[in-house]
Amino acid sequence: MNILITGATGYIASHTIVELQKNGHHIIGIDNLSNSSIDVINKIEQITGTKPDFYQVDICDYDGLKLALAGKKIDCCIHFAGLKAVGESVSKPLEYYDNNIGGTITLLKVLREVGCLNIIFSSSATVYGSPAFVPITEDCPKGICTNPYGWTKSMIEQILFDTHKASPEWNIVILRYFNPIGAHESGIIGERPNGIPNNLMPYITQVACGKREKLFVYGNDYDTPDGTGVRDYIHVVDLACGHVKALKAICDKCGIEVFNLGTGHGYSVLDVIHTFESVNGIKIPYEIVARRPGDIASCYADPSKSQKMLDWRATHTLQDMCRDSWNYQSKNLD
Ligand code: NAD
Ligand code: UD1
Repeated sequence: MNILITGATGYIASHTIVELQKNGHHIIGIDNLSNSSIDVINKIEQITGTKPDFYQVDICDYDGLKLALAGKKIDCCIHFAGLKAVGESVSKPLEYYDNNIGGTITLLKVLREVGCLNIIFSSSATVYGSPAFVPITEDCPKGICTNPYGWTKSMIEQILFDTHKASPEWNIVILRYFNPIGAHESGIIGERPNGIPNNLMPYITQVACGKREKLFVYGNDYDTPDGTGVRDYIHVVDLACGHVKALKAICDKCGIEVFNLGTGHGYSVLDVIHTFESVNGIKIPYEIVARRPGDIASCYADPSKSQKMLDWRATHTLQDMCRDSWNYQSKNLD
């Protein structure tokens, strides 16, 4: 299939392109390079032997998008592009709503014009808010998000449901990611956060390489086995494979479907620290500090719908994730 990838040079999209190319798909990538680098295109070629087509375009730019897509046959769009820094979204809500929601609306209009009514969207478990129950099934009611980033995901989901209701010929897959970590086993591509990492694993790898002195563990008084927050960490390559499988739902003319992409296992912050230490033989100094506002105690998926309908399941262990995250970080110290 010819697949349009928005946010193509980003962390999750780059791993997904590798898996899509391995499965014979042709990629047309676009990105405005606001949070990634053009080098990623060469790195993908280094891994797969095939250079994806790439256009530097902003999804908010209607004319630019139309120009980039003119005359191309697109079977499906996988829409990753978006701003994702939770803290920044609190201080720049209008920029986040404009980029993520405005950009998605512009993209949907252009897709409709070029005759592509198939889209897979990168959503997040953040739409469950403080989940009504764990493990979380797709039927779990959506909740109150604690930041504008989360609301953009929740609102885009609603826009997609309304789009499908008005025009049922759209096929739409909403993928709710749990906590992606890890990197391609080659160490050639991975996650490269700007500034001080917000998320746990990038912070740990920066402590491991001496860039930061110690990890701050946000609270050990949660109602969890060891008191620290529990999350469903998923290897980015498993997540990438989930997108390849989601194409099957699109081909089966699924209408609109929501899938959780998680492993179904919850690990605490201390579990992650200790696994990282034992797999990589590196001590991670840490200090327990107050809870981070907006954090929840436990969040992990019930992935049975994805297993059943997409024939997808995560295969990488937490050990694999810790090994590959460190492999990437240690090979990319700059
Ligand atoms: P990323 O920042 O690495 O990738 C996003 C890419 O989108 C970047 O390359 C950025 O330059 C590009 N982009 C942003 N705005 C754009 C615009 N207006 N036009 C064109 N390109 C634009 O992030 P990621 O971690 O790979 O996340 C990919 C998607 O998955 C995002 O939508 C994110 O919200 C979602 N998601 C990520 C996580 C996570 O933990 N990483 C969890 C749940 C959902
Ligand atoms: C966070 C975002 C969420 C977003 C997701 C992926 C918040 C409140 N939530 O989720 O909206 O979709 O990232 O980008 O920011 N932790 C520490 N020390 C750290 C970092 C994290 O103890 O330095 C703990 C957290 O308290 C949590 C766990 O590690 O218990 C995972 O945190 P993180 O990686 O930020 O992911 P989420 O909070 O699940």
